[in-house]
Amino acid sequence: ALPVKSAGSVMSASLRLVAVRNSSSKPKVAVLGASGGIGQPLGLLLKQDPLIAHLSLYDVVNTPGVAADLSHIDSNAKVSAHTGPAELAAAVEGADVIVIPAGVPRKPGMTRDDLFNTNAGIVRDLCQTIAKVAPKALVAIITNPVNSTVPIAVEVFKKAGSYDKRRIFGVTTLDVVRSQAFVSDLKGTDASKTVVPVVGGHAGITIIPLLSQTSPKVSFTQPEIEKLTPRIQDAGTEVVNAKAGAGSATLSMALAGARFANSLLRALKGEKVVQCAYVESEAVKGVNFFSTPLELGPNGVEKILGVGKVTPFEQKLIDASVPELNKNIAKGVKFVSG
Ligand code: NAI
Repeated sequence: ALPVKSAGSVMSASLRLVAVRNSSSKPKVAVLGASGGIGQPLGLLLKQDPLIAHLSLYDVVNTPGVAADLSHIDSNAKVSAHTGPAELAAAVEGADVIVIPAGVPRKPGMTRDDLFNTNAGIVRDLCQTIAKVAPKALVAIITNPVNSTVPIAVEVFKKAGSYDKRRIFGVTTLDVVRSQAFVSDLKGTDASKTVVPVVGGHAGITIIPLLSQTSPKVSFTQPEIEKLTPRIQDAGTEVVNAKAGAGSATLSMALAGARFANSLLRALKGEKVVQCAYVESEAVKGVNFFSTPLELGPNGVEKILGVGKVTPFEQKLIDASVPELNKNIAKGVKFVSG
C-alpha cells in the first residue's frame, strides 16, 4: 500500500483522467491566502490543471491583481477574485476543494509552533465560514502548525454540526516530495518514479519518512538512514535559513499543494488515488490524528491504509512522535473549545 505518485506532474496525471471525467461536473477549487508566497505559485499551477473549471482566489489583500494576472493564461479554468471577510462566503460557496495557505510563515530561529498565536485564529475564522457555506468541500490545510491547525478545523466543523472526518486534511505532501527528491539524489533513481511514504505529522520529529518502504525498492545503510531522516525532518528549516528572513518554502510547497489538490479532484471523479495526509485516524495507538497513506475517493478518505510494515528504527520514531503530536493536538482543541 504505497502512495502512488500523481504521474510525475499535475498535468500528466490530470490528462490521464480526462477519459473517466464526468462531463456534467464542473469542479470549483478555492485557494484561501491566494496572494501569498505559496498562494500565487499555487494559483499558477492550479490554473493549468485541466480538471478545474473555476479557480476562486481569496485573500485579505491583493486578490484582484493576482486574479487579473492569472486570468490572462489561456487555460480553461475561470478565475474569480474575492477580498476580505465579507467576500469569503462567495469565495467558498459551491467549492469542491478548498486549499488553505493563509497565514504567516516562519523566520529563522522559529519553530512551526511559534506561528500558533497568529495562524490558529486565521484557520478558525476561515473554517467557521466553510463549515456553514461549503460543508461538503474537501479541505486541505497548508497553514502551520499543521499538527494543530487540523484539530482546530475539526473542532470548528464539529461545533457547526457539519464535521465529516473524511473531508479535512493537513497537507504533508511537501515532506513526501522532499523525501523523494533527496532519495533520488542520493541513490541516482528516477525522481519522477521514486515513491517514499511519510507518516506522522508535519513538524520536526513528528515527520517520519518510511525509507524502508521506498519504491522501487532501494537499500540504505544505517548511517545513510540516520543522516537522511533528520535532513527530511529539518528540510523546511533548511529553506527558512537559506531565505534568511524572507519566508519559508513557497515554490516546492505550491507544487506539493497543487499535486495534493489534483489528487483530491481525481478522487472526486472516481479514480482510486493514494496519498499521505494528516487526518483524524486510528492508525497509531494513543493518538487521534496521524498522517499515513490514505486511499482517496469521491467522499475524501475512503480507507486509512496505515503505516504498513516498519523497521524497528521507524517504529521508534513513530513512538516518539505520539506524545509530541498529542501536545500539538490538545493545544489546537483547547484553542477552539477552551
Ligand atoms: P505569506 O505570508 O507569503 O502568505 C500568506 C498569505 O495569507 C498572505 O497573502 C496574507 O495576506 C494571507 N492571509 C493572512 N491572513 C489571512 C486571512 N485571515 N484570510 C485569508 N488570507 C490571509 O506566507 P506563505 O509563505 O505563503 O505561507 C503560508 C503558510 O503556509 C504559513 O503558515 C506557512 O508556515 C505554511 N507552510 C506550510 C507548509 C506545509 O508543508 N504544510 C510548507 C510551507 C509553508
